[in-house]
Formats: sequence, structure tokens, C-alpha cells
Amino acid sequence: MNAITMQAFAKTSDVSEQAIHRLVDEFYTKIRADPELGPVFMRAIPGDWGAHLSTMRNFWSSVMLTSGRYKGNPVAVHRRVEGIEFELFARWLALFSETCRELFDDALAQAFCGKAERIAESLKLAVFYRPDRPWPPGAA
Ligand code: HEM
Repeated sequence: MNAITMQAFAKTSDVSEQAIHRLVDEFYTKIRADPELGPVFMRAIPGDWGAHLSTMRNFWSSVMLTSGRYKGNPVAVHRRVEGIEFELFARWLALFSETCRELFDDALAQAFCGKAERIAESLKLAVFYRPDRPWPPGAA
């Protein structure tokens, strides 16, 4: 295997805007093809995905590189997403983890997934928590 071929197969080990760009593209390609998550996303974003992908690059750049590029309110946005379900978060995280592991080495994949898990936890609480019901929803 020559150097160029080896580079093509090497998994990324550093966070960069380029790595985030690739992750966002590949992750939302999987999301759109997913039988459960695809319809929820396609209903919310029926047309051009350019703006959403750009927002998500800014979001991950802010989270992983503290670039401050994302200015938004994910809680307010997710409260308005039609068809969002508590159970879908596990699927979202599984697809995110799968994408990270395809692109990044173990340490970098773990760094992204750790952040995603914590943010997912706070989004679930913000969207689904009710003081008069058990947590997590569906628990006996
Ligand atoms: C079941 C899980 C999830 C579903 C169905 C979902 C769905 C969506 C949809 C449909 C949008 C676009 C809304 C719109 O433009 O009208 C969106 C935006 C967004 N999502 Fe999610 N999401 C999920 C989980 C997550 C998680 C775990 C994260 C972070 C780790 C996340 C981060 C974001 C961010 C940052 C935006 C952009 C918000 C803005 O416009 O400022 N989402 N999500």
C-alpha cells in the first residue's frame, strides 16, 4: 500500500472544521435514509438542507472547538419538531456513534459521542420531562 492509499484509509484523530464538515454530511445522509428518523427530519426540512447542514457544522464547531459559531436555541427548536419521540434519541445516538467510528479514531469518536450523549440527555429532559410522571418515560 503506498502513502496516498494509506492516507485515504487513515481515520482522523484531530478535531478540525474539515472533520466536522465530513461528519455532518455523512451523519445526515444516514439520518435521511433511516426508516424511523428520516420521516421526522424530512417533515421538518422538506426542501433544501443547506441551511440545516450549515447550522449543524456551526453547532459542532462551537461544541468541539469552542468557536462560538453557533447561536441558537436547540431546546426551543426540538420542542417544535413534529413527531419527535423520547425513544428516537437512542437511534439518533446510535447513528451518530456509527458515523464517528467510521471516520475518526477511537479517542476522537469517543470525544464526539460523549458530548452528543450529554446534550441528548439535556434535550430529552427539556422536551419530555413532566414532574408528575416517571422518568425516564415508559419506566414502571
Ligand atoms: C430524536 C432525536 C432528534 C431529532 C428527531 C431531531 C430533529 C431535529 C430537526 C428536525 C431539526 C431541524 C428543525 C428545524 O429546522 O425546523 C433539528 C435541529 C437541530 N438539532 Fe436535532 N434532533 C434530535 C436530536 C438531536 C441531538 C441529540 C442534538 C445534539 C447533540 C441535536 C442538535 C440539533 C441542533 C443544534 C439543531 C439546530 C437548532 C437550530 O436551528 O438552532 N439534535 N433537530
